[in-house]
Amino acid sequence: MILDGKLVSKSLKDDIKTEINSYLLAGKRKPKLVIVQVGDVMASNIYVKNKIKACVYVNMDYEHIKLSDEIKEDSLLELISNLNQDICIDGIIVQLPLPKHINEDKVINAIDRNKDVDGFGIYSKGQLFSGIQGFKSATPYGIIKLLEYYNIKIEGKNACVIGRSNIVGKPMAIMLLDKNATVTICHSRTVNLAEITKEADILVSAVGKAKFVTADMVKKGAVVVDVGMNRDENGLCGDVDFQNVEPIASYISPVPGGVGPLTITMLLANTLESFKKKL
Ligand code: GUN
Repeated sequence: MILDGKLVSKSLKDDIKTEINSYLLAGKRKPKLVIVQVGDVMASNIYVKNKIKACVYVNMDYEHIKLSDEIKEDSLLELISNLNQDICIDGIIVQLPLPKHINEDKVINAIDRNKDVDGFGIYSKGQLFSGIQGFKSATPYGIIKLLEYYNIKIEGKNACVIGRSNIVGKPMAIMLLDKNATVTICHSRTVNLAEITKEADILVSAVGKAKFVTADMVKKGAVVVDVGMNRDENGLCGDVDFQNVEPIASYISPVPGGVGPLTITMLLANTLESFKKKL
């Protein structure tokens, strides 16, 4: 069965929209997200365009600040400091990647912890690690929502995450652990990868290589979640050899139309949460 990220995303966005409209009816302002983009990377342009489209859909205020890729780190930090102080801004994200002369960690951690709706800052990460309510990284948070929508049991299951990035792999592993899965994290140095992935009831791949997860790596009846965003001869594709894995899996998320739409939706959900905390 297909894990339809578009469908789940629409359902969650409709809930967000209803909630925002009820605040408007009660005389409150709209929640506001600021998207800071540095330079003109094509992939970032597409992500940002989709984020704006989603803001418009749910009736959320947004501001897109697009800066030259020659901006100095100090100027960017000053801009973030000003945005931090604006009480009408609920969420700030800095679209990654940043140009090489700018320290990404420094910039991300300059965002006020109460506005870190991407959940990339060390405070948000610390909250996640400690099991304290806070902003969760949108992609793994969206994956949990996707599994929950389809009533997929996580507790007691063997979950395997391939990839250990700070944005997807590591937070994904913690969120699955929080839901009482037994979690294994695999990565580029893992020995006998297929032996481990074949034990997984829930397999999440966040590697960034087309057709990396092949049918012989997947347990029959497994739930397969594909976080990959790759290009092959046919265009956009994930990490999973979909055609050959789909018949083995009980559930599988496609690319496009799986995890991607949920990432943006959870960013909006985090921004709405931030707004509500301030009320
Ligand atoms: N670059 C690619 N994905 C993302 C994302 O979810 N947030 C930010 N800030 N940058 C990204």
